[in-house]
Amino acid sequence: QSLQLTDKYGRVATDLRVSLTDRCNLRCTYCMPAEGLDWTAKEEILTDEEILRLLNIAVNTLGITKIRFTGGEPLLRRSLVTLVAEAAKLSGPNGRPELSLTTNALGLDKQAEQLAQAGLDRVNISLDSVDRQTYARLARRDRLPDVLKGIAAAKAAGLTPIKINTVAMKDQNLTQAEQLLTFCLEHGYQLRFIEHMPLGPRHTWDLSKVATAAEIIEILETKYQLRPRPNRGSAPAELWDVFPREAIDLDGMEPLGSVGIIASVTRPFCGDCDRTRLTADGSLRSCLFSLEEFSLRDLMRGGASDEELATAWAQTMWQKPAGHGIHEVGFEPPKRTMSAIGG
Ligand code: GTP
Ligand code: 5AD
Ligand code: SF4
Repeated sequence: QSLQLTDKYGRVATDLRVSLTDRCNLRCTYCMPAEGLDWTAKEEILTDEEILRLLNIAVNTLGITKIRFTGGEPLLRRSLVTLVAEAAKLSGPNGRPELSLTTNALGLDKQAEQLAQAGLDRVNISLDSVDRQTYARLARRDRLPDVLKGIAAAKAAGLTPIKINTVAMKDQNLTQAEQLLTFCLEHGYQLRFIEHMPLGPRHTWDLSKVATAAEIIEILETKYQLRPRPNRGSAPAELWDVFPREAIDLDGMEPLGSVGIIASVTRPFCGDCDRTRLTADGSLRSCLFSLEEFSLRDLMRGGASDEELATAWAQTMWQKPAGHGIHEVGFEPPKRTMSAIGG
């Protein structure tokens, strides 16, 4: 039996994001309140066996070709290396799925090599500033040196290409855009700025404070020349090749690297979305912004067969909303915030 995760607008999900925990060791202001959240109780979180059963269904029956582990902070899940190793053994009609991780890199220095050995392909790392004070203010923890150690370890372990995620905010770190890009170009990391989305604690989002793609480009162009790359496909980031400010003939020249912008707010890409999401407590979300979820965990714990689980997954995805609706009157953010959804 083979199904596809198609929705009523014709999009097909082939990319699965799996949250492994809702806990985190940082408190980024745009994501979590200072006091943290009420963590989900252990018995409500999917076990390793349950996750692997669902991954197997996703890859073998539902056409998933990419799996990304997220959190909270996925490095806090003690079994992460085992989960990666088991996921690396999966093989569907399209072969083994690509395995990646989105992390804040705390503790990655100790796990990068093991993760690479287990079969992890690459990592995306959240880094909102390379200025220690700004980092500490945004993450509410003074951990920049540890994060930089983690990123270096990922590079050494070959978890590449390494993508750096920076949530850009006008009143916080936008003026550091060029400094971040210079840092990433020097180390060979692919920097991506992300427009701040209304997915954090209530009342922490303000459209007028979102650093927009246009504003980010304007700042970067004071130091660099940017040339757009065609064909974003279904990837959320639009990419630009980066050249020195003073370069004249770009065609004959190797770029210094590239920079991306994930412009969910000002240039939504919902029409090309290829994602399906599973929360740490086993709920399916057809969209980052879905107001409704479906608990595969409850169905599974009630004794459902693989076939029943696959069918429920396909039915949930059929209902995927057309887009996030941030700009619509009466927009409602989801009840769960980013760390509990998985980003
Ligand atoms: P790759 O492109 O495969 O490297 O991963 P990614 O960029 O999709 O994943 P990552 O976890 O690094 O996410 C980067 C940013 O994109 C985060 O802010 C995510 O919340 C955002 N993002 C990921 N998927 C979606 C999506 O479906 N819709 C929107 N609006 N944002 C998304
Ligand atoms: N808007 C945009 N991106 C966010 N992230 C967390 N919260 C938000 C938000 N409100 C980013 C993190 C991480 C990724 C999974 O999502 O920085 O890199
Ligand atoms: Fe933790 Fe990521 Fe949320 Fe920051 S954005 S608090 S690193 S889950």
